[in-house]
Amino acid sequence: MSTKVALITGGSKGIGFGIAEALLKNGYQVAITSRTINAANLAASVLVAHGDVLAIEADVKDYKSQQDAINLIIEKWGRLDVLIANAGVGHFAPVDELDVESWNEIIDTNLTGVFYSIKASVEEIKKTKGTIFTISSLAGTNFFAGGSAYNASKFGLTGFTQSVMLDLRKYGVKVSTIMPGSVASHFNDHSPNTEDDAWKIQPEDMGKLIVDLLAMPARTLPSKIEIRPTTPKG
Ligand SMILES: NC(=O)c1ccc[n+]([C@@H]2O[C@H](COP(=O)([O-])OP(=O)(O)OC[C@H]3O[C@@H](n4cnc5c(N)ncnc54)[C@H](OP(=O)(O)O)[C@@H]3O)[C@@H](O)[C@H]2O)c1
Repeated sequence: MSTKVALITGGSKGIGFGIAEALLKNGYQVAITSRTINAANLAASVLVAHGDVLAIEADVKDYKSQQDAINLIIEKWGRLDVLIANAGVGHFAPVDELDVESWNEIIDTNLTGVFYSIKASVEEIKKTKGTIFTISSLAGTNFFAGGSAYNASKFGLTGFTQSVMLDLRKYGVKVSTIMPGSVASHFNDHSPNTEDDAWKIQPEDMGKLIVDLLAMPARTLPSKIEIRPTTPKG
């Protein structure tokens, strides 16, 4: 049987990197994207210790770059089994202080960018009866002050993914949305630190979650999964 292939948007660090590492350790060939080839190559230089990895510069805000990424993967490996639509950004400010550029970047990345990556890959994933994961957030079901743009993008993404799940299951394609709480990553210019280790979900935990979900029986479709720290700070 051919080796399975996964694409992770935003695999240069954080959650995407953790998922890439876990999939490689479980025998997948893995493509990761980033907004810059340098960041993608740097991550790939670490990930290559675990298997066959392809670094791609592709901004999820640019539909053509998503199509080019899929073409590169098909040229190299001939198939695509799993898409992890993970790339995301956050800027947090009360709505009266939120600037237009921040709003657009969040919606274009977290919502439209996921549509673009699914649109570009869906025909290949139909061929393999594969799986699509979107990385939403608990912010896709719980709103908070200062989170208007991020909440809008993740509420939208949660609804979008559930609809896509209903569209694609007739092709044998599974679509799941993952809704994490706090993960120790570089999100919003954070630097993971020892304090994070005490309570936050770690990127490798997100990797284990994806590997475990992919191992579910073919007849089951875990469509929406919330995952949160067991003991949140404060
Ligand atoms: N950390 C949390 O607590 C948390 C909780 C719930 C949900 N999430 C979600 O998890 C996802 C991953 O975030 P993270 O926590 O791992 O943050 P992170 O450490 O900042 O990683 C974000 C990743 O997304 C990539 N990225 C950002 N914009 C992109 C674009 N336009 N095109 C392609 N790649 C892009 C970044 O790559 P480059 O910078 O190299 O371009 C990086 O690889 C996001 O969707 C986020 O909303 C995070």
